[in-house]
Amino acid sequence: MAETIKVLISEEDVNARINELGKKISEDYAGGQVHLICILKGGVFFMCELAKRITVPVSMDFMSVSSYGNGTTSSGVIKINKDLDEPVEGKDVIVVEDIVDSGRTLYHLFGILKERGAKSLKLCALLDKPERRVCDVKVDYIGFEIPDEFVVGYGLDYAQKYRNLPYVGCVK
Ligand code: IMP
Ligand code: MG
Repeated sequence: MAETIKVLISEEDVNARINELGKKISEDYAGGQVHLICILKGGVFFMCELAKRITVPVSMDFMSVSSYGNGTTSSGVIKINKDLDEPVEGKDVIVVEDIVDSGRTLYHLFGILKERGAKSLKLCALLDKPERRVCDVKVDYIGFEIPDEFVVGYGLDYAQKYRNLPYVGCVK
């Protein structure tokens, strides 16, 4: 059955917002450098676009995690499907994610990265669904706050489809 996708945030608006985020991160890290950690697969489109707009030196790494949590407990642990290639110790890290929903994945991931000795740790997410939050996660750089709707595009999938849409859409 084919779904209908309705545009929620246009390609122009996404690009304009990523420009602003890149500028802000470049200002905040002026004189330093930033180590971006992309959460696969959803964060990949956003991270590439963001990285191109950051003017301080950038290094990048990739991680794939899945959450074991369910709706009734916040004690779910995450499974690391693909770990980082480089140590984070002593680095100014920004985790780049497509969307923060319950916050469960990032809450646990941040615990792991802190333990590994990142010098600083911030979170940049293209989308935030604050209504759905279960775990206390602070998003330092947010693209857009969105209502509690299932979205696709710009890295986000529905059954592995639609990640390549250049805009963010709702599945109808
Ligand atoms: P959570 O914050 O641990 O609940 O999980 C967030 C992850 O769930 C994201 O990284 C996405 O992969 C996925 N996710 C949450 N909401 C959506 C959505 O609206 N569309 C597609 N994937 C979503
Ligand atoms: Mg994700």
